[in-house]
Amino acid sequence: MEWRAGDAALRRRADGALELRVGGVFVMDDVETSSERLLARTMLDGLPDPRHVLVGGLGLGYTLREILGDPRIKRVTVAELEPAIPAWMHDGMLPGADLLTDPRVDLRIADVREVVDATERDDLDAILLDVDNGPGYLVHEDNAELYERPFLQRCADVLAPGGQLCVWSMAEAPELESAMQERFGRVETQPIPVRLQGRAESYWLVRGHGVAGDSLAP
Ligand SMILES: C[S@@+](CC[C@H](N)C(=O)[O-])C[C@H]1O[C@@H](n2cnc3c(N)ncnc32)[C@H](O)[C@@H]1O
Repeated sequence: MEWRAGDAALRRRADGALELRVGGVFVMDDVETSSERLLARTMLDGLPDPRHVLVGGLGLGYTLREILGDPRIKRVTVAELEPAIPAWMHDGMLPGADLLTDPRVDLRIADVREVVDATERDDLDAILLDVDNGPGYLVHEDNAELYERPFLQRCADVLAPGGQLCVWSMAEAPELESAMQERFGRVETQPIPVRLQGRAESYWLVRGHGVAGDSLAP
């Protein structure tokens, strides 16, 4: 069974799993979701007092659910391009209606770039980016800008001192790492072991830690 709206397609596969595609590209299913949850967990464990976090995008909501499980979190701004995804949650076709009615969640049907541009300086404790399959595996061509220096600088500007930018990627991303190194005090790349179709594989998290005070590069 398959539902389509805009660029999003939701499919119930023969194995019973739910699969999300955007623009014809497989983005995720509900079978292997450890890396989506670990994206949030790593940020939550790495910050002393995370209060306001930006998540791009919503997807099947695993990252968001993990964040909301932490009582320190006061507000989560979520940027999602496809209006069908929250609509499917509200309609019960996807689990997640409870995420959207959580009073801490501020869902914006928008490009994550617009949301970052509209954010006040120092307003966020973390930005979690999981909008593509990684910088080398884009869902939308325009998303290439998200991994380039000007946007990374804008992220650094809206993060509070010591805040984090965490990027999910299905493969190592050395160019992103070096671009982030110019904008953040410290950058770490961490493999996340996953099992895909019975094989041991790795996904990756690239994490930039903001410095106290102003960002590094002009
Ligand atoms: C891999 S899914 C996110 C998975 C999510 N972390 C989870 O736990 O389910 C990627 C999502 O990002 C959205 N997206 C893609 N490009 C975007 C952009 N530029 N701004 C906001 N959302 C975007 C897609 O529509 C899709 O829903």
